[in-house]
Formats: sequence, structure tokens, C-alpha cells
Amino acid sequence: MSEQPILRVNDLCTFYGRSQVLFDVGLSAPRRGAVAVLGRNGAGKTTLLKTIAGELRPQKGAVEIDGRPATRLPTEKRIRAGLGYVPQEQAVFGRLSVLDNLMIGAMSNRDKAAVDRVLQIFPKLADRLGQHAGTLSGGERKMLAIGRALLGEPKLLLLDEPTEGVWIGVIEEIVDRLAELAKDIGLVIVEQHLDLALRVSDFAYVLDRGRVALSGSSDEVRNDPQLLRLLAP
Ligand SMILES: Nc1ncnc2c1ncn2[C@@H]1O[C@H](COP(=O)(O)OP(=O)(O)OP(=O)(O)O)[C@@H](O)[C@H]1O
Ligand SMILES: [Mg+2]
Repeated sequence: MSEQPILRVNDLCTFYGRSQVLFDVGLSAPRRGAVAVLGRNGAGKTTLLKTIAGELRPQKGAVEIDGRPATRLPTEKRIRAGLGYVPQEQAVFGRLSVLDNLMIGAMSNRDKAAVDRVLQIFPKLADRLGQHAGTLSGGERKMLAIGRALLGEPKLLLLDEPTEGVWIGVIEEIVDRLAELAKDIGLVIVEQHLDLALRVSDFAYVLDRGRVALSGSSDEVRNDPQLLRLLAP
């Protein structure tokens, strides 16, 4: 018997005002492993994650988290249902220290052990606990944003471009940590680096102008003759 997915999305249609950006998008993510969302700039990847996270309300369609309807839940309730979300931008509080950012991520879960677990995953943060998050490098900032989300102990983690603006030498480190996390929880990763995205994920969806144009196992998607055309600017 296959396990129920941690995330199921059906027929999502999301608009900004009168302009429709997502068209009948369907996607599901298993309880363990990573799903990649690919697509050129403006394809609707961030809009999809924001809709799953509850920052945008779809005009049509449904979001189910951990087997329960979530379409009408506000973001906080989705977080309580097991969602973690690392947005593409402004994922940390620049004027607060690294430690304070982590403490806010912990919210009700303020035990030091949880913070220590995050510092084990991202040891670079341990040396910078007192530093303002706004002065971190791109890679450190992404690690902090992921670490904050992990303190909520998500069952499902949405990551919008976790390696954007990160120096190449640190990208591998972040991707390795994500691969380890995917052994325990479900990840949905929007990622521009095609090779990394397909390496870390088991399944991939390619959006084209707000529609799922291609989906399948990451190996199938990697070898699909349509892929490069769908990602070409
Ligand atoms: N707040 C907004 N108001 C109006 N249109 C928006 C808004 N945010 C995004 N859009 C438009 O929606 C479309 C999809 O944007 P989205 O940010 O989801 O794309 P993306 O795939 O994440 O792109 P990128 O790879 O550049 O991050 C784009 O045409 C964008 O201009
Ligand atoms: Mg985006």
C-alpha cells in the first residue's frame, strides 16, 4: 500500500488581480524525498509555492496537507499542520542576530536542543550566532532561512531557490544537506540549477506559462527532448 502524500495540489488557478498566473496546476509530494519544480523566469514557480503556503488564495483548486484540506487555512495553520516555507526573498530578519532569527523560527519549540540540531546541520551558522543576519553571506543567509524553517519541525518543506545568490562552492553543501533532509521529510524545491535539482529530486514538474508542461521521474524529465525548450529563455 502506498503512503498518502504529504502534499496534494489539484487544479490550482491563481490570479494577481485579473491576471491569471497558474492554470489548473496539479502536483503531489511524498512524505519522504524531494520534488523539483522547474521553469523559466516568470513561469509561476514562486506563485505556486505562495499558493501552497497560503500567501495567495487560488480562485479555483485545492491544497491538501497531510491528508487534510488546507485551501482555506491561513498560513499559520498550515505551518501547524506540518508546513515549512523558505521564500525566495526576505527569508531572514536582517536587523536581528542569527540566534534571534533561529529563536523566532523555533516559536513554541524554544528548546536549545532543536537549535543545536540546526547548528549541526549548518555548522557555519554556529560561528555567527551574534552577527546580524543582514550581514551574512548569501549562502549563510540561505542556511539560516532553511534552519529557521526546520525549527518548526515541518513534515513538508517548500524551498524557493535555496541556492540563488550563493557562491558555487557553498551550493553543493546546501544541496547535500537538502538531500539528507529528504530522507526524513517531503521537500518541494524550486531550483534554477537544473543538474542539482534533478540530482536531489525523485520527481520533477516543469511549469510553462503557469501550466504543468512536463512531469515525471527526475530521470525521465532529464531525458525528455522537450526539457531544454521549456527552460530556454
Ligand atoms: N504581485 C504580483 N502582481 C502581479 N503580477 C505578479 C506578481 N508577482 C508575480 N507576478 C507575475 O506572475 C508571473 C509569475 O511570477 P512568479 O514570481 O511566480 O515566477 P517564477 O517562476 O517564480 O519566476 P523566477 O524564476 O523569476 O523567480 C510573472 O509574469 C510575474 O510578473
Ligand atoms: Mg520565483
